[in-house]
Amino acid sequence: MPNLDKALNIADLRLLAKKRLTKVLFDFCDKASEDQLSLRHNREALDRIKLMPRMLRDVSGRDPGVTLFGRKHDLPLVIGPTGPAGYVWYRGETALAKAAAAANIPCTLASTSNTPMEKIVADGGGTQWFQLYIWQDIEASMLTVQRALDAGFEALVLTVDSPVYNNREVDVRNGFTLPPRVNAKTALDVAMHPRWLFGTLCPYLWMENGLPPFANIHFPEEHKAAADDYQSKSTGGFLNRNETLDWDFLKRLRDAWRKKLLLKGILHPDDAVMAADAGVDGVFVSNHAGNVLDAAVTAWDALPAIKDATGDRLTLIADTGVRRGSDVLKGLALGANAIAVGRATLYGVAAAGEPGAAKAIDILGSEIRRTMAAMGLTSVSEINQDHIRLPSDLPVSG
Ligand SMILES: Cc1cc2nc3c(=O)[nH]c(=O)nc-3n(C[C@H](O)[C@H](O)[C@H](O)COP(=O)(O)O)c2cc1C
Repeated sequence: MPNLDKALNIADLRLLAKKRLTKVLFDFCDKASEDQLSLRHNREALDRIKLMPRMLRDVSGRDPGVTLFGRKHDLPLVIGPTGPAGYVWYRGETALAKAAAAANIPCTLASTSNTPMEKIVADGGGTQWFQLYIWQDIEASMLTVQRALDAGFEALVLTVDSPVYNNREVDVRNGFTLPPRVNAKTALDVAMHPRWLFGTLCPYLWMENGLPPFANIHFPEEHKAAADDYQSKSTGGFLNRNETLDWDFLKRLRDAWRKKLLLKGILHPDDAVMAADAGVDGVFVSNHAGNVLDAAVTAWDALPAIKDATGDRLTLIADTGVRRGSDVLKGLALGANAIAVGRATLYGVAAAGEPGAAKAIDILGSEIRRTMAAMGLTSVSEINQDHIRLPSDLPVSG
């Protein structure tokens, strides 16, 4: 186990994850689609926002907590869905859920996770949301919705930004597969990362006969093979995303899921308004970690217009690129109710399991508290657009 005390920030956790994971898996977590433009733009968008602090305010009693859907959470953070996180650490999805519960923040389980959702709810505790993809077979996908309802998830997050598979050329070049395969191309990579080999692959081999398949997608009998091989041609495209989804489908989902419903991947204010009109409770303003549309606008550019258009009609969660507590405050100042993190906690869990995920939350939490003090804030609800300066607000120097 690495010495987590030496990890001062999320970048340090990223390096620990890089050391432990195979290159194929690390790149899957760390990189994005096509030319990685969106990945860079997300950071640039956050970096160009400046914070405007206020002075001589008693900041001794700071509370970084937020209320989301009637529940008080200790930090303005949500763990977003990060696919099959169980491949970076043995039962990594449970580790993420437990770390989130201990920190009293919500955790979102991905459709493509490999630990059964009922087990995550039972072992993880805390506030748990389920992320949904709708696959080729809508009826089979709706059985997953019913299963998530029965399992007790508090919210359903329908990802709407991915009607087709992303174009992650890096994964194609690396020979990445789901589940990961050890073959002639990847064997050396695995051998060079003994801590992943012995800490993750071997426990699965010894205790579960191999890396687990997808555990939370409903596979009709004729498509069972798809569970073990995401990319298999023999699955007849069962795991292709459904390209026909539209606002009519959303009505059906709204009727089927009476608890909190969020859409993930909204960037245009008109779509946010349509979501509110359709009875959706919240949206993730997100460009999906730069994994889908490489030229997409960033959440940080899109957020102010979405906030203006929807006011208090929707709970706004924003994400992509967040690595510092100050990034979180910037997102809140732009109008978000909370900020989701994907890679920050994924690096943590890949580096050291549950303590690693807890460390990521702890780092962000202490940075948030310190930034609040320096900003003159005692509560995150006080933060507004007057606490930031965007490039257009700043005087041109020289
Ligand atoms: C490795 C990885 C897998 C992801 N898998 C999913 C997924 O299955 N469903 C989804 O809606 N978003 C997925 N995302 C996107 C995240 O939920 C989130 O939007 C994004 O990671 C936020 O950006 P950040 O990683 O810079 O914090 C994934 C992100 C990563 C990095």
